[in-house]
Amino acid sequence: MQLWNKGFEPDKLIEKFTVGNDQLLDLRLAKYDVQGSIAHIKMLQSIGLLTKEELDTLLPALEEIADKIEKGEFKIDPGVEDVHSQIEFMLTQKLGDVGKKIHSGRSRNDQVLVDLKLFFRDELKNIAAAADKLFQRLQLLSEEHRDKLMPGYTHLQIAMPSSFGLWFGAYAESLTDDMQMLLAAYKIANQNPLGSAAGYGSSFPLDRQMTTDLLKFDNPHYNVVAAQMSRGKTERAVGAAIAAIAATLGHLAMDVCLWMCNNFGFVSFPDELTTGSSIMPHKKNPDVFEIMRGKCNRIQSVPNELALLTANLPLGYNRDLQLMKDIMFPATSELIDCLEMADFMFQHVIVKADILDNKLYDYIFTVEDVNRLASEGMPFRDAYKKIGMEVQNGEYTPTREVHHTHLGSIGNLATEQIAAKMQKILSQFE
Ligand code: ARG
Repeated sequence: MQLWNKGFEPDKLIEKFTVGNDQLLDLRLAKYDVQGSIAHIKMLQSIGLLTKEELDTLLPALEEIADKIEKGEFKIDPGVEDVHSQIEFMLTQKLGDVGKKIHSGRSRNDQVLVDLKLFFRDELKNIAAAADKLFQRLQLLSEEHRDKLMPGYTHLQIAMPSSFGLWFGAYAESLTDDMQMLLAAYKIANQNPLGSAAGYGSSFPLDRQMTTDLLKFDNPHYNVVAAQMSRGKTERAVGAAIAAIAATLGHLAMDVCLWMCNNFGFVSFPDELTTGSSIMPHKKNPDVFEIMRGKCNRIQSVPNELALLTANLPLGYNRDLQLMKDIMFPATSELIDCLEMADFMFQHVIVKADILDNKLYDYIFTVEDVNRLASEGMPFRDAYKKIGMEVQNGEYTPTREVHHTHLGSIGNLATEQIAAKMQKILSQFE
């Protein structure tokens, strides 16, 4: 049965094809659909489209549905198109004609829009919380291992001394940049589309500010056409943000895979956090970080998928938009999974000490020695030449002294400043 049924049954094949995965995906929107409906009917009562008695009948029935959803007992019945239809059917079944009144002044187009905005608002906060947890873990590790040096590379050739303090701290700070994008997506999502109805507003005198206040949105998405256009635009903002976090996390996962490689051995994990081989008895593989790298790479395809799905769509609602849920819902969940798994793994990371004592890394100290000579008065270019000739002739022996004191370097990690930067961003997620 469809909300739009006019006396003929649509072909079953057509129904299956157009409904797609909505019966499953929409379950994630159910809670928000009820919130949106509660705000909508309170507003309808305020403008005289529902009586006080009707509102008082509808509200407990919606609360009851909310309770079912909370308990995991809510489902979309076979033959029902989506969550919006299911909730309206449930109300009508229970209350008769009053249930049929709640759809005045709205359309499923602004209903799904408001559901999605409320969903993204929560989901972005969940992502922010998971990212913050990893951020804090990385900062902790950065301080704990601040004195352990490691090689820094350029072109994957040994370059200059780095440290585990720098490495962990780098990914922590890098996450703060991604959080700026997450915050931007949050602000775009936090606007009320309700009242845009099918995309062109309504002849009822809807109080859009009232639903905006009830649902705690920053402001209405004022122009009803712009409100409808925000379907897709919101997803693209969220997509860009989650892709940014995924790029950071995927990069970190790649570092771990490389540094767990036997030729490096910079980091390792307890046996039970590694995986084995069915044929090679000695193997301890970094499958967790490989899966993480793969998942994060897939999440980075989200902006592309969204761009292709929505490119050149005509203005106004088009059913193509429904398919964005198939892209977005698994992607945000996967990202949260990856962030939580990274936090879990790093809780147990084992870091190798004294890596740079190996002669393999002698040349990593050349710049230190050039700078030492320059500090003592030798022109930089002459000092460079002197050390360069020593290397060339196989006569270079490093002093192995590392003096990095400026802001953000090995000896001055700026951990507190970076934490303050993160805090400032996080505080705006309300
Ligand atoms: N499942 C639909 C979606 O996600 C709900 C809106 C349906 N609107 C319509 N005009 N058919 O887009």
